[in-house]
Amino acid sequence: MPALTSFRSLIDSLERSGTLRSISRPVDPRHELIAVMRAVQKAGNEPLLFTAVAGSPSPVATNILGRREVLALALGLEPQTLLPSLLALGLAQLDPMIVSDAPVHEVVQTSGFDVARDIPQVVHSERDAGAYISAGICIARHPTTGIVNASWNRIQLAGGDHTRVRMMPPQHLGQYQRVAEESGEPMPVAVVIGAPPALMLSAASKIPIEADEYRTAGGWQREPLRLVRAKTVPLDVPADAEFVIEGHVLPHVREAEGPFGEFTDGYVEVGPNHVLKVSAITRRRDAIYHVILAGGSEDTVLLGVPLMVDVWKKVAPLADIRDIGFPGHIFGCVISLAKTDDLQPKAVLEAALAAHLWMKLVVVVDADVDPHDPQDVLWAIHTRHRPDTGIVRIENAAGFPRADVRAVHRGKIGLDATAPLAMKETFRRRRFLGIETISPEDYFDPV
Ligand SMILES: Cc1cc2nc3c(=O)[nH]c(=O)nc-3n(C[C@H](O)[C@H](O)[C@H](O)COP(=O)(O)O)c2cc1C
Repeated sequence: MPALTSFRSLIDSLERSGTLRSISRPVDPRHELIAVMRAVQKAGNEPLLFTAVAGSPSPVATNILGRREVLALALGLEPQTLLPSLLALGLAQLDPMIVSDAPVHEVVQTSGFDVARDIPQVVHSERDAGAYISAGICIARHPTTGIVNASWNRIQLAGGDHTRVRMMPPQHLGQYQRVAEESGEPMPVAVVIGAPPALMLSAASKIPIEADEYRTAGGWQREPLRLVRAKTVPLDVPADAEFVIEGHVLPHVREAEGPFGEFTDGYVEVGPNHVLKVSAITRRRDAIYHVILAGGSEDTVLLGVPLMVDVWKKVAPLADIRDIGFPGHIFGCVISLAKTDDLQPKAVLEAALAAHLWMKLVVVVDADVDPHDPQDVLWAIHTRHRPDTGIVRIENAAGFPRADVRAVHRGKIGLDATAPLAMKETFRRRRFLGIETISPEDYFDPV
């Protein structure tokens, strides 16, 4: 299966398959749009396209990668084997190609623009400091090595050409900025909205700082990334993107930015963050704006999949691993395996907890439990876990390191929720014949 190499081809594909839900009822970009999306994420979790966003020059797409299967489709990979396939791709590199036909340059504004008018003013959470770009990928070149980095960064839309962006080490963009600032130089940045899916994933992944993310995204989509020279900054940008916002991060300038609702459902409070002065807004004539809610399904898929590839790498040599899910949040995971030895679950738990700093709660289940279904996982804990012997506890291990909450992310816990091999028959799950073909709607009396 070939990968879909642009955001637009992904939207078109979801539309053709009837997966994309279109919403033409007018919505307010301040809170209402996100409230509708959040309600959808809690129900059917469909990808959404809002076509009548008040005051917005563009339709707004959101929850596009809210399902793992859509990410797999976008990358041309099978959903059931997404993690081992990504592990096999590793850091595959493919040089990008520079093209002259660039939909993202159909409309070019290098003056007279206003980020508070020309960009949809989406406000996400109750206490947010106004409208933010929440699905912008910052492209920058390392000031000395020239290596291209791509990372997701929230951007506060102040007005005119003025935006604020948080870019802190250890994030690579923050490291780039520090080098630029030491020589007193503004750092050119291009913010890509509606990016090729492989670039969306690489921007959410911890790619080694020595690896060029355009080449990595090309490797992952098994086709060179189509790039075009930016209009006002010395960078190349994805030619098929929906929007590109070009500008410079000012050296030695910080402004109060925040609060902004973040992925643990709290807020990152006001902090002194960088100023990005915009020099151009370029876009497709019919550009679709992309919005991602921190901590929502799409954010969780983008951050969780690369994390679980790291976990897969560590646990795959230890047992017959069937799948890894991350229901709830990404500070843990559920690993399903077909065990051949009762010692395997504990070895897998220890390896998974050590695979990433953020891993705090790992559950191992048998292959007949769906690791993506929290109810099924809780069922396995209730019916198969032995609290007196089935817990791996690591005291004092550091976890998610953000300063305001790190005190609670100390220690790690693993639960073996697999049935003992000797009792396999006792624990065999009963089946309900015919259930696969039954739809309750066909049985209800009409209301
Ligand atoms: C939708 C989305 C938004 C994100 N926003 C931020 C952000 O505002 N600041 C930040 O430091 N990391 C943010 N991240 C996480 C980074 O993109 C992620 O840590 C990435 O790996 C950093 O890349 P690096 O390898 O260049 O350091 C976000 C991730 C996603 C998926």
